[in-house]
Amino acid sequence: MTDADPMAAAGEHAVRTHGLTKRFGRQVAVDRLDLAVPRGSVYGFLGPNGSGKTTTIRLLLTLVRPTSGRHELLGRPMPLAADRVLPRVGSLVEGPAFHPYLSGRDNLLRLDAAGRVADPATARCRVDAALDRVGLLAVARKRYRAYSLGMRQRLALAATQLQPRDMLVLDEPTNGLDPQGTREVRALVSGLAAEGVTVLLSTHLLSEVEQLCTHVGVMHRGTLVAQGPLADVTSATAVRVVVRTDQPVPAAATLSRLGLTQVTGGADEVSGLLGDVAPERVVAELVGDGVPVRGFAVTAPGLEETFVGLTGEGFDVSG
Ligand SMILES: Nc1ncnc2c1ncn2[C@@H]1O[C@H](COP(=O)(O)OP(=O)(O)O)[C@@H](O)[C@H]1O
Ligand SMILES: [Mg+2]
Repeated sequence: MTDADPMAAAGEHAVRTHGLTKRFGRQVAVDRLDLAVPRGSVYGFLGPNGSGKTTTIRLLLTLVRPTSGRHELLGRPMPLAADRVLPRVGSLVEGPAFHPYLSGRDNLLRLDAAGRVADPATARCRVDAALDRVGLLAVARKRYRAYSLGMRQRLALAATQLQPRDMLVLDEPTNGLDPQGTREVRALVSGLAAEGVTVLLSTHLLSEVEQLCTHVGVMHRGTLVAQGPLADVTSATAVRVVVRTDQPVPAAATLSRLGLTQVTGGADEVSGLLGDVAPERVVAELVGDGVPVRGFAVTAPGLEETFVGLTGEGFDVSG
């Protein structure tokens, strides 16, 4: 590896973790995680509050040491290659400390000057480009303390854009943002992804994953319960059948007996998650049980159903 081409031959994954584990005392915050984030993906790291997302991100960025396990970032073993790799990774975890009495632009100029690779002659240009990306150019001269929460978050994102990045790691980047701020952040992420930047973003919002992500990893109580391309994860786990019948009670009994989960019924239909039961078998058994079937559908699962199926928990689906 030469310094001129620091990421040469760095492999197909932007992130790989191997049994990565973090305990706080007796509590296992992250449990034997095997994360695989393909290069160029927008990877949605999804899970309810307390499921271990932030701890994982802190582990990835070597802000905290693992109890056991290891990982590579941009194909390089960490923390060994941290000096070379971390400058290529923009992150938003705790947010940089901004000076309340300086304007947004002056705050970024300070951060830019602190960067090792920054050419002072082009600082203003870099800073304004970063401000423009997050839609803050018009308020660049306003003091930071006058910024709304959303503007502060967008300034933190702008700070990640002061140098070219191969990857962005964003911990709940739209948390606390108003709808306009949320749209701007999502547009920024999409734009960067289109340029080939790998983005790992944590979220507890399903809609965010559905709108932005190519891949998803689902956390539940410190473990990764599913990961892969979004379409694979949703189709593999939660195909639902809907049976239209005027005898929902015996129909539900048949579905339950076959091993379908989350069997729910209405006045004239029942549905359940298929799991690995073949749909033809469901029809045959219903007929065998004497249930009059007026309609039968296998529905494409939504992300929400998938996660409820995986975790047994509801998600905050707003946003
Ligand atoms: N510094 C810490 N000390 C003790 N427990 C922690 C610490 N950081 C996180 N935890 C615990 O680890 C679990 C995972 O937390 P976190 O990674 O913040 O989850 P998430 O980001 O998904 O909400 C939680 O139960 C949290 O209370
Ligand atoms: Mg968190």
